[in-house]
Amino acid sequence: MSTLKRLISRMTLEEKAGLCSGDQFWRTKAVERLGIPAINLSDGPHGLRAQGEEQDHLGVNDSRPATCFPTAAGLASSWSVELLEQLGAALGDEAQAEGLHVVLGPGANIKRSPLCGRNFEYFSEDPLLSSHLAAAHIRGTQSRGVGSSLKHFAANNQEHRRMSVDARIDERTLREIYLASFEHAVKEAQPWTVMCAYNRLNGEYCSEHARLLTTILRDEWGFEGFVVSDWGAVNERVPGLEAGMELEMPASGGERDAQIVAAVREGRLEEAVLDRAVERLLRITFRAVDARQESAEFDADAHHQLARRIACESMVLLQNDGILPLSNERRVAIIGEFAERPRYQGGGSSHVNATRVEPLLEALETRGALFDYLKGFEIDRDTPDPRLEQAAAEGARTAEVAVLCLGLPDRHESEGYDRTHLNLPANQLALIAAVTRVQPNTVVVLANGAPIAMPWAGQVSAILEGYLGGQAVGAALADLLYGEVSPSGKLAETFPHRLEDTPAHLNFPGDSDVVRYGEGIFVGYRHYDTLGTDPLFPFGHGLSYSRFDYANLTLSASDFDGQGSLTVSCDITNSGEREASEIVQLYLSDRTQSVPMAAQALRGFDRVTLAPGETARIEMGLSRRDFCWYDAERADWRLPTGIFEVRIGASSRDIRLNQCIEVRGDAVALPVIDRNILMGDLQRHEGATRVLRQHLADIADELPMLNGLMSRDGGDDLMDAMGHYLPLRALVSFSGFTEARLEDLLKDLKALA
Ligand code: BGC
Repeated sequence: MSTLKRLISRMTLEEKAGLCSGDQFWRTKAVERLGIPAINLSDGPHGLRAQGEEQDHLGVNDSRPATCFPTAAGLASSWSVELLEQLGAALGDEAQAEGLHVVLGPGANIKRSPLCGRNFEYFSEDPLLSSHLAAAHIRGTQSRGVGSSLKHFAANNQEHRRMSVDARIDERTLREIYLASFEHAVKEAQPWTVMCAYNRLNGEYCSEHARLLTTILRDEWGFEGFVVSDWGAVNERVPGLEAGMELEMPASGGERDAQIVAAVREGRLEEAVLDRAVERLLRITFRAVDARQESAEFDADAHHQLARRIACESMVLLQNDGILPLSNERRVAIIGEFAERPRYQGGGSSHVNATRVEPLLEALETRGALFDYLKGFEIDRDTPDPRLEQAAAEGARTAEVAVLCLGLPDRHESEGYDRTHLNLPANQLALIAAVTRVQPNTVVVLANGAPIAMPWAGQVSAILEGYLGGQAVGAALADLLYGEVSPSGKLAETFPHRLEDTPAHLNFPGDSDVVRYGEGIFVGYRHYDTLGTDPLFPFGHGLSYSRFDYANLTLSASDFDGQGSLTVSCDITNSGEREASEIVQLYLSDRTQSVPMAAQALRGFDRVTLAPGETARIEMGLSRRDFCWYDAERADWRLPTGIFEVRIGASSRDIRLNQCIEVRGDAVALPVIDRNILMGDLQRHEGATRVLRQHLADIADELPMLNGLMSRDGGDDLMDAMGHYLPLRALVSFSGFTEARLEDLLKDLKALA
């Protein structure tokens, strides 16, 4: 018997049930008589929210000072696994210093609609990018002996009715998009805990979804930690425990522990299920306690500098007619209250009490920049103020360049509710109009956690997307505006022209408590690229102060059968004048059209920093799964046969190199045989075609619609289509084929299985 099992055998039923819920907001229960310790959990993904006495899960009460790094929307634009790992490690170090054992994050939910109020906390609309960045975040934190809690599992893609809404998603979409965004992170980084989502998924609450929490998470992906409920996500405790949700947080005043005890006593719950949960909880608890570094401290200044570097690499230069970088000699009008009161993080449970905040004005003063500041608008109201606008326009007119610091005020996006539109507040729109009327050299700097519409983009010279840049936001902006660092971030999400262009527009946020993911796999760029809709700024887009040339694409083989891996290589040259980083993207375009496919899908990426004139050879690997689609009928990934195009791009809409490859896929599986199966579906299978030919040879002459089956060219499209879409049962209606012969045919077809 293992040590843990021996320990569990000494626990009372009440003690075991008690371990399955929290003691208070941020702590599990201890069992002192047996030496079982409690562990401390705390938000969140981009900075700690370790609270003292006043505790809450919505960021209302203060927490102890911690470094506030850029939020996930910005982090993802760095496309840098190294940076995410460093951030994770810094969080781990701060957690050790605060006596925390588990950090609640990262969030790997897909950005289904730009309206989701919590998009600032999520990485991407693409599952590959999201899951690789989440894995790096987890690796970093756990390397410091602190656990991560990958959240919110799964399909928590909106805030509207988040604790009750039922996300209805077809299986292929679920696997290829929403679960894939977690899958790699679980398999590769093995988070100590996974947090289940509030919502329901296809009818069942995620907190009691056995297929999600056990069949997929544990049996298929090999998850070894414990599942914790989102705060207050428990519906029925006993089914939740059975489904694989071990820890309820925060607590239920002992009520639900008592339900577990009663269920065991009354024989409704096997005690072995409870024991299994307790074992999973204890394994992580002891691991966390063993890894504690009692006298750990962190270097707040070093972390502030890390936050600055991360912010620099996360911001995205969306547009630039050459006005950026600014030279030190130019007199600049800095306009907009965000320059003095930056919005650098989001609202809700991830809200950090920053160790310090460096606004743009302070950073500009530090570097001795030549500037005047004008407020332009008030963050706390949306209505235009002609007096402030006029003063700003006057300041802009007499300067050489105007830098407008704009964005979404806190109340426009937050955990807890979704946005209803993509616009900037009216006062900021009026300010843009007033300033661009008098100053042609206008730069817009944005602070927002999710895409906004920019009908004004054509009127300004440059747009720098700062996202929610963390506590060093001002220093990072100054570094980029003045060219200390070349911008290198690229969008991890599409910026649409209009809300009406977005993939989920007709299905978001759903009807009452049901939201149907009617757009299926066509999420983000998969939607825009397949429809040919032009976005405002495409997925993967971001400009630099340098230039990069792409050349010499080679594939390690000219065909692929799913065995081993295929290496894609190319040369990237910095052909500009300054050191800069480039994010190289690999997309696959499936031309086999075995099933409806997106025009292309991201299957690899790399980030490289190059001196002027320097060339690097990039290598990215592709494996079987990258070419597969999910076959829900067979509950498995299928490799199709045919041509794929390998594309290397500087963005999803700036493909620089491409090459085709032939894929020899899985043998076509026999469809489920019954009397309603179509002839055309059977003919994709070699064996089934043979059987059909044998059984139908004698009636084929009288039925021209069987010409296709018999490989005869009747030259008649109508007849070919009729044959293709003919259910077997209809043979009896159109020929002398009898029901008895149909039975024989079905028997022989089934025998092929
Ligand atoms: C959020 C989680 C968070 C938890 C604890 C919930 O409201 O959805 O992301 O970790 O609160 O603060």
